[in-house]
Order: sequence, then C-alpha cells, then structure tokens
Amino acid sequence: MKKRPIVVGNWKMELSHKAELELIRALKNMLKGVPIKSEVVVCPSYPSLPAIAEALKKNSKIAVGAQNVFLEEKGAYTGQVSVLDIKPFVNWSLVGHSEVRAAAGVTDDIVVKTAAMLRGHNINPIVCIGESEEERRSEQTVTKIRTQVASLIEGLDRTSLVQTVIAYEPIWAIGSGQTPDPDDVAQIVLLIRRQLTDRYDQELAERVRIIYGGSVTPENAGHYVGGPNADGLLIGGASLHPQKFMEIIQAVDSAFGEA
Ligand code: PGA
Repeated sequence: MKKRPIVVGNWKMELSHKAELELIRALKNMLKGVPIKSEVVVCPSYPSLPAIAEALKKNSKIAVGAQNVFLEEKGAYTGQVSVLDIKPFVNWSLVGHSEVRAAAGVTDDIVVKTAAMLRGHNINPIVCIGESEEERRSEQTVTKIRTQVASLIEGLDRTSLVQTVIAYEPIWAIGSGQTPDPDDVAQIVLLIRRQLTDRYDQELAERVRIIYGGSVTPENAGHYVGGPNADGLLIGGASLHPQKFMEIIQAVDSAFGEA
C-alpha cells in the first residue's frame, strides 16, 4: 500500500481570527483545480476552529487539526480545552509540541496518554518529538528520540500507532532558521522505523508516517522528504503565507512523484 505524504500547517498564536479566515480563503483558492497528492492539514487557534471547519466543509483537500488538547475530558481544569470541544471540528490534533511541553510541563507520559485518548475519539494524533539544543550538543539526540518513541510504542496499540503521525522536530530548529542536515533527518527516520520494526514488524514500521518540522521553507522542503527521508512536513512560519505553503505542498508532492 502506498503511503500518502502529509503536510501540516501549524498557525500557532500568530494570526487574528480575521487573518486566519483570510488565510484559509486564500489557501482554498490556490488549491482549487490543482491536483494534490499530499494530505494537507491546517491547525488554527482554538477559537477559529468552528469557522475554519465551516469554511472547509465542502473542501476535501484541506483537513483541520487542533494545536493541542487537554488529556482529561471534563472537570475542574480552568482554561483547558477538552477533546469534546474540538471533536466536532477536527480530524487531527498536534500533541506534545515542544512549545506546549515547555509552557505546560507536558511529559512523554502525558503525550502518549493524550494520543491514545484522541484515538478513542477517532482523531488522529500528530505527536511531536525532538531534542533540545543542549541535548544535541551533548550528543543525546539518539537517546532522546529512542526514549520518546519507546514511550509511544508502549502506550499505543498497533491500530492507534498506524493512525499516528510522528513529527520529528529538533527543538533548536523550530522558528530559528537553523536546519539539520537532511541526511541526519533521514537517520532519525530510519532509527524510528527500526524501533517500530523491532517491536512490531516492517509492515507497521512502513505504514506509520514520520514527518519533519523546523524552519521548513519552500527552498529546503524538498530536501527532507521522499525516499529514505520523511513522509511529510510540519510547518510553522511558512504556513502563514499561502504562496509559500502551496510551494511546500508542491515540493512534497514532487518528491513523492519521483519516488
Ligand atoms: P517553524 O515551526 O516552521 O516556524 O520552524 C515549526 C513548528 O513549530 O511546528
């Protein structure tokens, strides 16, 4: 079975509600009539989810994701957002983005439990993992990734794992303009697939989509995908510009076309 590449735009807290609506309109127009191979997901801010979902109701080319979700479904959790709040509007949710981990003290254990909870609601998790600058400098990257993937493997059953996208985002590359060598990313992708193969089998390892994120631009997008490299991209800054986002989707499409 051929895997479909996936391109995810994480809009973070960068735009006003009005600007998010303008952005989705522009994206829809750009994609109109253009054949796209990649699965495309946009992750707006919580308050915009209903309006963005409505704007995309008749559009099968762009899916909607949340940027985060709280582990518990209900209760005395001031300021948190439940899966029940996002469920009517999304098919996807980011889990454990490094900005969330840093701001909210989210651990690997919480991340995997949240991913399992999302699957229980038929929402696909995009789980973010990756090493910090300090971990990179002290050559802890492999250990960090192995630990994070081990926790995912332990906490998710086979079916949930297949529906989960693993996003490798070196924390030092996010929003910094610094990017890893594409060969290093390919090594990490291989490492994750080996770990999945060791626990399950090659069939499962090949089916799980592993994507790259961190300072992706239209210029570098093609270097990180296709062949032994990632199955797609997670994009912050460049996803706020419809033209750039479109060029990135096309770069991913053509990397997969040639494969
Ligand atoms: P960036 O963000 O593309 O702006 O580096 C990526 C992310 O945080 O997911």
